Amino acid sequence: MSISTEPTSRAARSEAELQAMARDHLWMHFSRQSVMTEGDGVPIIVKGEGHRIWDSTGKEYIDGLAGLFVVNAGHGRRRLAEAGARQAEQLAFFPIWSYAHPAAIELADRIADLAPGDLNHVFFSTGGGEAVETAFKLAKHYWKLAGQPAKHKVISRYIAYHGTPQGALAITGLPGMKSMFEPVVPGGFRVPNTNFYRAGEMGFTGGTQEQFGVWAADRIEEMINFEGPETVAAVFLEPVQNSGGCFPPPPGYFQRVREICDKYDVLLVSDEVICAFGRLGHYFGADAYGFQPDMITFAKAVTSGYSPLGGTIVSDRVYEPFAHGQVSFPHGYTFGGHPVSAAVALENLDIFEEEGLLAHVRENSPVFRSTLEKLTDLPIVGDVRGDGYFFGIELVKDKLTKETFDDDESERLLRGFLSKALFDAGLYCRADDRGDPVIQLAPPLTIGPSEFDEIEQILRGVLTEAWSRL
Ligand SMILES: Cc1ncc(COP(=O)(O)O)c(C=O)c1O
Repeated sequence: MSISTEPTSRAARSEAELQAMARDHLWMHFSRQSVMTEGDGVPIIVKGEGHRIWDSTGKEYIDGLAGLFVVNAGHGRRRLAEAGARQAEQLAFFPIWSYAHPAAIELADRIADLAPGDLNHVFFSTGGGEAVETAFKLAKHYWKLAGQPAKHKVISRYIAYHGTPQGALAITGLPGMKSMFEPVVPGGFRVPNTNFYRAGEMGFTGGTQEQFGVWAADRIEEMINFEGPETVAAVFLEPVQNSGGCFPPPPGYFQRVREICDKYDVLLVSDEVICAFGRLGHYFGADAYGFQPDMITFAKAVTSGYSPLGGTIVSDRVYEPFAHGQVSFPHGYTFGGHPVSAAVALENLDIFEEEGLLAHVRENSPVFRSTLEKLTDLPIVGDVRGDGYFFGIELVKDKLTKETFDDDESERLLRGFLSKALFDAGLYCRADDRGDPVIQLAPPLTIGPSEFDEIEQILRGVLTEAWSRL
């Protein structure tokens, strides 16, 4: 296919020109610049339509990761582009610093309607890290106003990713992402995650999923007691933890966590930067697992990526001390609640409703899972786990012992072979080794069984070859 650059007014550039410009000037995120300075260059994606994307050479791929857990409604939606354009024509920008505009007001109202229980107040940001940062600062400020100024510590889970601002980084549980920035904001403490496949390695001595859930939740109680409840402000948890490869909560986990948070007066923050807006077949992960957080952080799919937006949804209780007199929360972002992004988000939510995307995910998720589970006949596939349209495939060296790859093998397998081989085979997804090596899938919510089969076939071919190279 020939790739059109027609919708933009920029001059069409050749592949070689773009590669040279990227090499000389573009600093990619979380990436080795050497792929450009010493290697073959960077894949340049120029077009998206539905669940397909195209690179600058015209090659087509399945977008198995919805960009980066973002494009839930799929690519190429003209009506989202038009909603943004209409808003930009009418009012391109105005802040929500002591002023407001209709798009942010209407979106806050709509999100409050969708959010569980008394989560009625929306503090907008531009992305997920800022939403987490907001929740962290708000928790500290709230406890100061509530007469418990020592409550400032935060608890999160092993290997969890919560963003890169220095506060959010204190909540992130990946030492490799923090060591170069130490000392990060103090007060972050880590507890076991809900990786049932490796529960034994975290100290769980065996039993059912339910027992594991209670055990893992009780580690939060233990940490609160170790640190002193009077010093702990909040617990940050994703409904399904992404980093490490899709750890859904065992049944009863969040109910037990809620009990513990209530017992010790600790706020429960559900970090739904990935899980909100359909990824799990619900607007919020808290709905998927039936628990009531004190705050929800969101970003990514709220606009399906057609414009950046994030936010923190806050309960009546946490909001209350800020609602009166001279109190204000001294925090904000110039582009938080940007009119164009808010208008796009409203249109995006219309699409979700009109097309029944959440029901589509709930209906098809079991088929997606069983299609991916076919891969467990391969010697390299140790575990397939996840929920909704969000799955991780853990790769192992030995299925029986669950032995994983050492650093060198991981480097050769994931970076040296898998990521590129999957991409070459037509599947954009993520080979992640921030925990044990996993392949992660989180496609647009529009796909169905025939695309699941296509994805499985590509994975089967590449994983079979990966095994033969070990
Ligand atoms: C759970 C979670 N929290 C926070 C973030 C940070 O979001 P952003 O990259 O928009 O700052 C991410 C990003 O993937 C995330 O997955």
